[in-house]
Amino acid sequence: MMQRVIIIGMGKMGLVHGSIMNILPDAEVVALCDLDKSLGNYVKSIGLNAPFYPTLDEALKEVQADSVLVTTPQFSHRVVAEAAIKHNLHVFIEKPSAHTLEDAQALYDLVKGRSEIVHAVGYMKAHYPLYQEMGRLIQDGVLGTVKNFRASLYLSQVFAPKSGWMFTQKQAGGGLLTNTACHLLYLLYAWFGELAGVYAKTVSLHSKEVEDTASAVMEFRNGVVGTLHSSWSVPGFQVEETEVLIEGTNGILIADDNRYRLHLINPHDAYPQGWTVRHRSETDTVSFNLSPEYGGEGYYNEDLNFIQCCRDGKPALVTWYDGLQVQKMMDAMYRSSREGYITLTSSSE
Ligand SMILES: NC(=O)c1ccc[n+]([C@@H]2O[C@H](COP(=O)([O-])OP(=O)(O)OC[C@H]3O[C@@H](n4cnc5c(N)ncnc54)[C@H](O)[C@@H]3O)[C@@H](O)[C@H]2O)c1
Repeated sequence: MMQRVIIIGMGKMGLVHGSIMNILPDAEVVALCDLDKSLGNYVKSIGLNAPFYPTLDEALKEVQADSVLVTTPQFSHRVVAEAAIKHNLHVFIEKPSAHTLEDAQALYDLVKGRSEIVHAVGYMKAHYPLYQEMGRLIQDGVLGTVKNFRASLYLSQVFAPKSGWMFTQKQAGGGLLTNTACHLLYLLYAWFGELAGVYAKTVSLHSKEVEDTASAVMEFRNGVVGTLHSSWSVPGFQVEETEVLIEGTNGILIADDNRYRLHLINPHDAYPQGWTVRHRSETDTVSFNLSPEYGGEGYYNEDLNFIQCCRDGKPALVTWYDGLQVQKMMDAMYRSSREGYITLTSSSE
């Protein structure tokens, strides 16, 4: 069945998802919403022709919908998503789940046990086929027992104090981690599971309120230990670059957004002894890639996954439970920066 979609928040990410939704065969964008009414004519001029309303409640007085995409800043995710859940709509929220752990927990509590509602979070690297293949390698024991990792994410974005919600502690919940490095935290969670403990330092180089760099030693509940370093204040990274090196008892896996290199001591199933190299171009099969340099197939695949899950009544690949786990990682890193080593309680406790 065709999914009737409302997009709330017509800034940068609203336009990205609007363009993709426009070409997905099972989706029909029935309304666009933004508190900033001046955006109505602008979105029309770039081909997004659905009726425009300031709020979801206004839109629902005139149109019927099955699902919403919440592409507003994270400080408003909870209030907007709550309104959508009240109408029993399926809800995708952009990352991070919220600007605080409290809001991310409240969002998960709203949908816990309600399998009729599809809930998703926009950690789009989850939808890169290359990273999914790496997840299967780790899961299937190709690397033997994974023991440790080194991970980094760099970007050239902040070289002087900047204004706007993204650089405001109260609205964004932080800086580099909540806006950018959370994508890398999601990957670590997807590959290694729940974080058990962390020692982190977050540092402001240029921003007035939020951190520009983060360094951490992280211990996962499955015994994997590793280090993370990230900064959005490094020249030379116009396009964000993620890199990981994962060591196991049977070899290593070195990867970035564009390729992985696997080196095995002993062959494992289809993977030979020695080096195997896989490029993103070998795994990328999407029919529409809005921004090949940054996240293109990830955005397309995540929207496709959300729409298909809404249509088929299945859980999304990245749920609000997963979003909460990443929020716990960020919260622990911020606390650690003030208080020292943080031990996290297990979700099953
Ligand atoms: N997945 C990614 O790669 C990625 C990249 C950038 C941003 N994001 C996330 O996407 C979200 C949006 O970021 P952006 O860069 O598009 O922001 P933006 O500032 O460009 O746009 C946000 C829009 O939301 C509107 N808005 C704010 N509160 C609203 C409300 N209560 N109801 C309706 N409209 C409201 C604003 O008027 C604005 O037009 C954030 O959570 C951000 O962290 C994700």
